Amino acid sequence: MDQFADVQQSFGRCLRGNNRFVDDFYRRLLGSDERIATMFASTDWTLQNKAIRRGISLAITFAGTPVAARRQVREMAEVHSRGGRAPITPELYEHWIESLILTVQASDPDYSPSLGKRWRTALEPAIGFMQNSY
Ligand code: HEM
Repeated sequence: MDQFADVQQSFGRCLRGNNRFVDDFYRRLLGSDERIATMFASTDWTLQNKAIRRGISLAITFAGTPVAARRQVREMAEVHSRGGRAPITPELYEHWIESLILTVQASDPDYSPSLGKRWRTALEPAIGFMQNSY
């Protein structure tokens, strides 16, 4: 079974190689659509920094071993569902993935286009699950 160890390792290199990885990601995401910037107007960035690092790692785990991450991915999906604390319509995930891949590209010294494809493949199941849970 594909565990996406290469993608988890790439994520580790991103965080070690760029201590502003999360800031850079959110700068891109918030700049990509004005609706998105307003959603983060009262965000506690210290908490969000921790939550998103964990969330990305869980999403990668979900692709390789769904059973190991299903409960937590379901919780993230609830937060982003229409009745949740931070409702996210399905089309906004496109901005999220593009912002993330650009930040990985700028942060992982071993980045290649094929590794970028692996990231997309790894994040697809969690994103699909969250979009379907909206
Ligand atoms: C697979 C994709 C995504 C993952 C894994 C993810 C993960 C998370 C996590 C873990 C949190 C913190 C939840 C908590 O505080 O309990 C969060 C909050 C949030 N996310 Fe996402 N998210 C994703 C996609 C998106 C997208 C596409 C948007 C908007 C374009 C978005 C906007 C937000 C907002 C506005 C918050 C709330 C921030 C606050 O508390 O002020 N997320 N997300």
